[in-house]
Amino acid sequence: MSKSILVIIGSPKKEGNTAALVEWFAGAARAGGAEVEVINATKLETKVNGCQSCRACQKRAEYGCVFNDGVKLALDKMMGADAIVMATPLYFFSASAQIKHVFDRMFSLYKWDNATNTMKTCLKGKIFAVIASAYEAQGFDALEQPFKMTAEYTGMKYLSLLVPDAGVSGEVRKKPGVREKAEAFGKRMAAIVAAPPPP
Ligand SMILES: Cc1cc2nc3c(=O)[nH]c(=O)nc-3n(C[C@H](O)[C@H](O)[C@H](O)COP(=O)(O)O)c2cc1C
Repeated sequence: MSKSILVIIGSPKKEGNTAALVEWFAGAARAGGAEVEVINATKLETKVNGCQSCRACQKRAEYGCVFNDGVKLALDKMMGADAIVMATPLYFFSASAQIKHVFDRMFSLYKWDNATNTMKTCLKGKIFAVIASAYEAQGFDALEQPFKMTAEYTGMKYLSLLVPDAGVSGEVRKKPGVREKAEAFGKRMAAIVAAPPPP
């Protein structure tokens, strides 16, 4: 069975840099044998304005958000994917708000047991990756921290593709070497998800 990669786009620009990077990444990952699904967080129908911290997800056995909307569907897809890729423009040294909305509601993919100070998660063993572009490279450290730390915390393997010098939407399509980098990343991701887990 081919392995699956879920890409969540966090840019509203249809022909923007994020869209181009994802198009190249996904094409190469598919050519490498992976199943790739791309969804756009900026188009998801939402019933709540971000995580409500209601903690209802912690009071039931199954994983998933109790608010039945487009973000919940994205979270459900994450559970079934071998790799989760968040593709975002850098907005003020961080991910876009639409990505942050999905990210925060990933709370429902954990189960905390405060009594024993333990945490279980259905994310363990997956790949968690970021694809990002920005005008300057200096904000990437800040952007990556929450993703890296979340991956470490949940037992996911972290990877990233970061593309600077892209201050204008769509600019990456004209930049030499960027397409090749995005395709190499897709190919690498397909190979990683296809590899058998360590014994
Ligand atoms: C609201 C907003 C905030 C931004 N903040 C930054 C920033 O902090 N640092 C940076 O280098 N570029 C910043 N940019 C530029 C974008 O990250 C960059 O142009 C990106 O490649 C756009 O991707 P897109 O075409 O997919 O939307 C910002 C752009 C916008 C619209």
